[in-house]
Amino acid sequence: MSDQPGRLWGGRFEGSPAEAFDALNASLPVDQRMWREDIRGSRAHARMLAAQGIIPVEDAQAIDAGLQQVATEMESGQFAFAPGDEDIHTAVERRLTEIAGDAGRRLHTGRSRNDQVITDTLLWLRGRCEEQARSLTALAQALVDQARSHVDTLVPGYTHLQRAQPVRLAHHLLAYAWMLHRDRRRLAFAMESAGESPLGSGALAGSGFPVDRQMTADELGFAGITPNSMDSVGSRDALADYLAFAAQLGVHLSRLGAEFVWWSSEEAGFVVLDDAYASGSSMLPQKKNPDAAELARGKAARLAADLSGLLGLTAGLPLAYNKDLQDDKHFLFDAADTIDLLLPALTGMVATATFREDVMAAAAEQGFLSATDLADYLVREGWPFRRAHEAVGALVRACAARGVALGDASAADLAAAGLDGLELPELTALASVEAKDVPGGTARAQVLAQIDAIEQRMAAW
Ligand code: ARG
Repeated sequence: MSDQPGRLWGGRFEGSPAEAFDALNASLPVDQRMWREDIRGSRAHARMLAAQGIIPVEDAQAIDAGLQQVATEMESGQFAFAPGDEDIHTAVERRLTEIAGDAGRRLHTGRSRNDQVITDTLLWLRGRCEEQARSLTALAQALVDQARSHVDTLVPGYTHLQRAQPVRLAHHLLAYAWMLHRDRRRLAFAMESAGESPLGSGALAGSGFPVDRQMTADELGFAGITPNSMDSVGSRDALADYLAFAAQLGVHLSRLGAEFVWWSSEEAGFVVLDDAYASGSSMLPQKKNPDAAELARGKAARLAADLSGLLGLTAGLPLAYNKDLQDDKHFLFDAADTIDLLLPALTGMVATATFREDVMAAAAEQGFLSATDLADYLVREGWPFRRAHEAVGALVRACAARGVALGDASAADLAAAGLDGLELPELTALASVEAKDVPGGTARAQVLAQIDAIEQRMAAW
C-alpha cells in the first residue's frame, strides 16, 4: 500500500511531497475547467477497453455509471476536491475509484495522463473554436449590415492619417469584414490541427494493449488519429495554431477599435457610440468614453503575448512530454477567454453605432481629396501623369494659400499652376468614388458586388 493515499503515482515514493512542491506542481486550478472533456474522454476509453476485451464489460459499465455520477457532482458543484488531486485527471479518477472500487482502478489501463491531457485539451479547444466561429460570424455580419446601410455614405479615406481620397463608408467597413474572413480561415486551420486524436499514444511510446484508437477517435468526434505517439504527447501545435489565429484576430480588432476611438472623438465626430457600449468619467461629467473600442485596441498585446508564451514554452523541449507543457493551458485559456469577451462586445458596438453621415460627407468634400481626380482628368486630356501631378500640386498650393477648394480655383490660381484657361471637371467626392470603377474600388457597383462577395464567402464559413 502506498504511503501517499490519493496519489496516482504513490507506489514508487516513500515520503510525501512538500507543500511548496505540491503548490507548484498542481494544475487543478487551471485545468479543472476541462472536467467535461476529461469525463468524455474516459468514457470513450473505457468503452473501447471493454470492446477490445482488455477489461471486463461489467467493469466498463461500472466505470461509465461512476463517471456519470462524477459529472453530476461536478455539474451541481457538489464535487469535493481532495488535497491530493493535483489535476483534473487525478481528481476524476480518484472520485471514480471511490464510487466504483477496482473497476475504477482499471480505467487507466493502456493510457497515460500524457495522451489523456492533450486529448482533453484538443476536445476543449474544438468546442471553443466552434463557438468562436459563430461569434466571428456575428461580428462580420454586423459590419456587413452597417456596410449595406452606408453604401452611399461618403467619408475621407486616409493614409498617414491625412485625408487622401474619398471612399464609401461601406467600403471602409468591409475592409474589416475581409480581415475577419481571413481570420475565419485561420480558425478553420486551427480546428483542423486539433482534429486528430492522440488517445492511445500512452506516455510516449504507444500502448502495450490492443487499444482501438480509431474507435475512441470516432466516438470523440476526431477526424482521424495522430500518426506518431511521441509527437502526439509532445506537440502543442494545434494550440499554437489557435493562438496564432487569436493573435492575428486581436490585431484586427485592435485596428477596428482604434478606428472607432478616433472616429468617435470630437475632432473627427464621425460616429456616435450607443450608450450601452460606452462609459463615463468619474470626474468629468461631460465624458462619454469609447471603452469597448479602447479595450479591443489594448487586448492585442495580451493575445500576442499568449502566442509568444506558448511558442517560448515549447521551444527547446526535447521529446516527448515534459512537465513544462502543463503551462500551455494558461496561454490557451487566457486567449480564448479574451476573444470571448471581445467578439460580442465589438459586435454590439458596431451594430449599434450611429454614423454621422453629414459630418463624414462634409469632411469628404474638404482637404483637396479630389486632387488625384483632377490629375487623372488631365491625363485623360493627354497630359503625361507626372506633369499633371506637378501642375495639380501647384494648383493645390495656390488654392491652399487663399483658403479655397480646388473647385473654386480662380483664373489666377490656374495660371499660377500652368493650367491657364482649364475648364475644371466635376470635383465632388461622389464623382471621385464613382471614378474608381475597378474590382475592389469604390464605385457603387463595385461596392455592391463586394458585399455580395463577402456574404457568399461567409455563407461557406
Ligand atoms: N497536469 C498535467 C498536465 O497538464 C497532466 C500530465 C501529467 N503527466 C505526467 N507525466 N506527470 O500536463
